[in-house]
Amino acid sequence: MLKLEDFFLICPVGFESSVQEEIRKTQPWILGADSRPSPHLIEIVQERKGGLEVRAPKLEGFQLVHHLKSPVRILWRWKSKKISHVTELKNWLRSLRPQEIYEGPLKLQIHSRQSRLQNEKMIERVFHEDWKNLKEESAQTLYVDLYQDQMTLSWDLCGEPLYKRSWAPYKGQAPLRENLAHLLLQDLTEGFTGPELSQMSLVDPMMGSGTFLWEALSWNWLNTERAFSYQSWKGLPSFFKIEWWKNSLRPRQSLFKHYEGYDQDPHMVEIAQKNATLFEPAELHLEVQDVRQAQPLKTNSERLLISNPPYGERIAGDSVENLIRSSLEAFKPLRALFVWPEGKIPSFLGYRSDLKRKFLHGGIPVQVIVFSRNS
Ligand SMILES: C[S@@+](CC[C@H](N)C(=O)[O-])C[C@H]1O[C@@H](n2cnc3c(N)ncnc32)[C@H](O)[C@@H]1O
Repeated sequence: MLKLEDFFLICPVGFESSVQEEIRKTQPWILGADSRPSPHLIEIVQERKGGLEVRAPKLEGFQLVHHLKSPVRILWRWKSKKISHVTELKNWLRSLRPQEIYEGPLKLQIHSRQSRLQNEKMIERVFHEDWKNLKEESAQTLYVDLYQDQMTLSWDLCGEPLYKRSWAPYKGQAPLRENLAHLLLQDLTEGFTGPELSQMSLVDPMMGSGTFLWEALSWNWLNTERAFSYQSWKGLPSFFKIEWWKNSLRPRQSLFKHYEGYDQDPHMVEIAQKNATLFEPAELHLEVQDVRQAQPLKTNSERLLISNPPYGERIAGDSVENLIRSSLEAFKPLRALFVWPEGKIPSFLGYRSDLKRKFLHGGIPVQVIVFSRNS
């Protein structure tokens, strides 16, 4: 019988079901040990606030770090035990052999709640007494989670968070995290078929460094060129020692036919142009332009529009409304999605608005509004 392993996917709170959807859509591209599509399902065991418990064979589970775009991090559940006393913890730690997984220095991330051992500093001291390979500065993290006296030790498979892609490294001042951009593109494109989208244009009239554009362009790409912490582990299946992704049938497809990105700040457009070099020869148009005087490209394709307009102290509330109005009037998108701080939902002639979701973005409560063109 093939052994199944437990994984925990950390994801933005409120987007748990979107991450589940991404897992289901990814399934056909996951390979088995014979480098052909795996017959083993990635089983979603439980949805939690800010995460998903998932079960899969090791080989299939580890591949998720390269395929999934929406989680922040993936952990592999290693050991679990009921622990209600320090002596129990000491005895257990003595029996464990973390070096069998990873020989380098380890960093701990301890989290305890509703348990008799509540003091995280004290738990850390106990670990330090027995494990001599612990260091603050380390590329490998072991997550120690104590909940209702059940201690679970999980290895971080990723190192740098998953939203660090192998592409588009140049950032502006308030970049959106790539995984959030991916999730919002999922909201924007809901209900459209792949062939429909492949005939359309995506426009971001206030693109900053262009995160939405790069996420849509790399929609089906595997994240393989950067390092992931699991790659330094001992005893990895031999599958991972070759360039296994070359056997994946996942096409390096983008979502849309054509891409347009604008920003009023020439420096932002320069940054976006640097990111764009990786995506050539994509049908991509980048230009310095104030959305309030926008001169859109002439095109026969329908447009979908996505943007996170500037917000904060420097911009008055009604200005965001003006930027959205200008975007809709100039580009006349079939559908548009905007993220901005919670507040009133403006209405615009010719468009129906729907509150898609609310979430915390950098501690600020924001709303995601989708405008759909009438007719
Ligand atoms: C919050 S940032 C967008 C960040 C972007 N999503 C990213 O990931 O880099 C908002 C952008 O809107 C641009 N902007 C502000 N007012 C504008 C206007 N009137 N026309 C076009 N761009 C504008 C700013 O220069 C800034 O780059």
